[in-house]
Amino acid sequence: MSLVPMRQILDEAAKGGYGVGAFNVNNMEQIQAIMQAAHDTASPVIIQASRGALKYSKMIYLKKLMEAAAEEFPHIPVAMHLDHGNSIATLKEAIDLGFTSVMMDGSLAEDGKTPNTYEQNVAITKQAVELAHPLGVTVEGELGCLGGIEDGHGAGLSDEEVASHLTDPAQAEDFVAKTGLDALAVAIGTSHGAYKSGRKDPKTGEILPPALAMERIHEIHKRMPNCHMVMHGSSSVPKELVDLINQYGGKMPGTFGIPISEIQDGIKHGVRKINVDTDSRLAITGAIRKVFVEHPEKFDPRDYLKPAREAAYHVYVDRMKAFGQAGHAGDYKQMTLEDMKKVYGR
Ligand code: G3H
Ligand code: 13P
Ligand code: ZN
Repeated sequence: MSLVPMRQILDEAAKGGYGVGAFNVNNMEQIQAIMQAAHDTASPVIIQASRGALKYSKMIYLKKLMEAAAEEFPHIPVAMHLDHGNSIATLKEAIDLGFTSVMMDGSLAEDGKTPNTYEQNVAITKQAVELAHPLGVTVEGELGCLGGIEDGHGAGLSDEEVASHLTDPAQAEDFVAKTGLDALAVAIGTSHGAYKSGRKDPKTGEILPPALAMERIHEIHKRMPNCHMVMHGSSSVPKELVDLINQYGGKMPGTFGIPISEIQDGIKHGVRKINVDTDSRLAITGAIRKVFVEHPEKFDPRDYLKPAREAAYHVYVDRMKAFGQAGHAGDYKQMTLEDMKKVYGR
């Protein structure tokens, strides 16, 4: 079976009232872990690659691995998505490679750092839709800027700046109407990476959970009940994964993630795609550190990549169950890009 347009996966998720995890990948082990988890939980799934991932894996390798995934598990609807595309040229490259969905992150300029103006964002996102839809490819856009400084995607904003860059619901309505996109990434105070909280209790110095503007999601859903929203920076950064890393020689103090309960609240209010990368990275790192410390004599990469793949698998299974996509793989007949071209052409 071929890769499915992401739009179909999101439309079906909206019908069923569930969310779908979009998991970032860089290598074979992550792809295999996701597919095994999707198979074991009967979940439709979105696999995504950042520009960094495409550079790391040299594009063609990821493409072939994704084709292998779809071939091994033909009963699992799986979309291949470009995460944080920064220019029309990057989108073209991904589409040529066979991606069934692309993100045009027009919230930031091509450098991935400087916030764009609203007008610039509308113009480039519209251009992305004009390129992708005639080919049956799904488009995700972003309005507002994520926080986050350590991964080069967020604009590296302070708390006050983050607040001023949250998605404005009235503007979101205008943005969706003007661009015709399929999925809207919203900025509600999440950020990429394992350090999602810049907040400290002034009295105790204790790190507090990130402040999330969930009411913005509620309001956007009220205004546009059919709009598929995307939550970026949605790793939960579970304490046990971080503890394992630290137990085996890591140094990751002060981490914080997004509580699953907040994501589930988002799903009740129109969030259909949930981006998770960091949790898989944490699981893999902890598993590898454990083998290195407990078995310093080992040097066969399979001795640590196998437990790493298993640890990531458990994260994916947990998220698929928590987001509600589990059990829905067989709900519908998978569409192709050709089918989707006709839908967009209507
Ligand atoms: O968008 C953020 C993802 O976690 C991808 O990160 O650019 O390090 O691959 P990356
Ligand atoms: P996390 O860093 O929270 O996993 O977010 C990933 C993401 O949003 C990818 O676009
Ligand atoms: Zn992101």
